[in-house]
Amino acid sequence: MEFLALTLFPELFRPFWEIGIVGRAAEKGIIRGRAVDIRSFAAGRHKVVDDRPYGGGCGMVMQPDPLDKALNEARARLPQALTVLLTPQGKRFSQQMAETLAGAAKDMILVCGRYEGVDQRVIDRHVDLEISIGDYVLTGGEPAAMVVIDAVTRLLPGALGNKASAASDSFSQDLLEHAQYTRPADWQGEAVPEVLLSGHHGQIEKWRRSHALATTLLKRPDLLRGRKLGPEEIRLLENWRIEIERILDAQPVRGPDPSPGGG
Ligand code: ADE
Repeated sequence: MEFLALTLFPELFRPFWEIGIVGRAAEKGIIRGRAVDIRSFAAGRHKVVDDRPYGGGCGMVMQPDPLDKALNEARARLPQALTVLLTPQGKRFSQQMAETLAGAAKDMILVCGRYEGVDQRVIDRHVDLEISIGDYVLTGGEPAAMVVIDAVTRLLPGALGNKASAASDSFSQDLLEHAQYTRPADWQGEAVPEVLLSGHHGQIEKWRRSHALATTLLKRPDLLRGRKLGPEEIRLLENWRIEIERILDAQPVRGPDPSPGGG
């Protein structure tokens, strides 16, 4: 799978293609990453790529011509590619979208906007999909392109050392991941949960599913509210409820929180 980023700052991508899982995937030939400088397609000695917006207002807009030329060349190189614009106006990026993109295994041309935006006409002509990585405004699409490339790459067959690890990811089953521990078993007086040291795979898996549910309940209850729970998940959540009730029953006084805003 090839990723071609169109950017005014190609040097931002240089370490990105070389380091970590993305770097290893490139070495193994699972992906190929390239960043192309939009400015190299600009005309004139000064290689200007932006201009003031029609209708006035602050900021600058990326001109259509250099980007159009860059996109024509990119699309000639990768004729089957999906052309993506990174913009806060795009569809919100998610694990599900990463899975769809990785599953399609189509090459991707990623247009990284700078300034206040990109001339709409070049977007209309070339862009298949607009992606936002969240409701905040970056100074450019480059970090967003790296987020998308990273999340897609790690899902490609062979990119991760351990096949299981992509399947048990946070979000891959609409749940957050359980807590993780490594050696030492006792770290500054804090012990690792005993079941994880037991070697009993059935109990370890049950602990993990139970703690994935509890972590999701505490940190992202919205993910559970919108979910149809399986029978085992219901049982595991019931166990947490019993545990909470046991703790509350042991309290001398029980009742609603009398403080303002309390339950
Ligand atoms: N460019 C600027 N902000 C962005 C965002 N939130 N997502 C994607 N691209 C962007």
